[in-house]
Amino acid sequence: MSAHSVENNNIFSKGEGRRAAQTDWQAYAAAYDLLSAHNPEYQSLLTGFEGFLSQLNGPPVIYDIGGGTGNYSQIIARCCPNSQIRFIEPDSGMLGVAQRKLSDHDNIIFENAGLESAGAPGDADLIVSIHSLYAMPDQEDRLADMRRMLRPGGLLYLVDLGREMNVSDWRRYLFGHLRREHGLLGACRIFWQGREIAKQNANIRSSQEDGTYWTHSGDELATAVRDAGFEILRQEVVYRGYSDLLVCRAIDL
Ligand SMILES: C[S@@+](CC[C@H](N)C(=O)[O-])C[C@H]1O[C@@H](n2cnc3c(N)ncnc32)[C@H](O)[C@@H]1O
Repeated sequence: MSAHSVENNNIFSKGEGRRAAQTDWQAYAAAYDLLSAHNPEYQSLLTGFEGFLSQLNGPPVIYDIGGGTGNYSQIIARCCPNSQIRFIEPDSGMLGVAQRKLSDHDNIIFENAGLESAGAPGDADLIVSIHSLYAMPDQEDRLADMRRMLRPGGLLYLVDLGREMNVSDWRRYLFGHLRREHGLLGACRIFWQGREIAKQNANIRSSQEDGTYWTHSGDELATAVRDAGFEILRQEVVYRGYSDLLVCRAIDL
């Protein structure tokens, strides 16, 4: 067992005895892009990703796993028009929003499946997984799936929510931001329109508390990623301290 052994550190054990996830991604889908438009932290992740992508030379095959409403694939499709994109998303509501958003692009294959049942071949040069790993079952196996789906030397751009979602903290932060940008009435209006987001974020929090969703420190995520066959090229804490961003390279198995 290696120094980074997942079993030794027991970092996945919280999920034992899981019950079904409570987050209703379908209900979330309709309001999800309010987040994109009004959350500066979300915007900053998108900008950071675009900066990362611009340093690469158009990876030929890119997978967006748990791609949600397609905001990351939209950047990929714009910056890498010659790449083949495989969009893997189990929720039909999220997938539908993404398909409409990306309908102008003919270089995207949509797969309505969770990573655990995705039929994607192992030909990816880049895998993008943003805020979806924590919601998947058996993260150790899912990271191994991502490693298998990459060519040796391929890259994984991983952002994952690791810390428990403090819904009041986010509400205060976002309301303060919206009030500065749109005034009190504007902030109230946007909050009302996006009330489903607050509800689903509270569901995410309870799924984290009961162990359905994985919570981790940056070190625990790094250990899991190394154990799955990656070397870590870059790691930072993002999303107001709630998430970890790792850029990793697939090593020879
Ligand atoms: C918070 S959203 C993130 C969406 C998108 N990556 C983004 O950052 O805008 C999490 C996504 O993970 C998806 N998801 C949940 N379980 C999954 C699984 N087993 N495999 C792949 N994706 C999953 C959800 O359906 C949802 O669309």
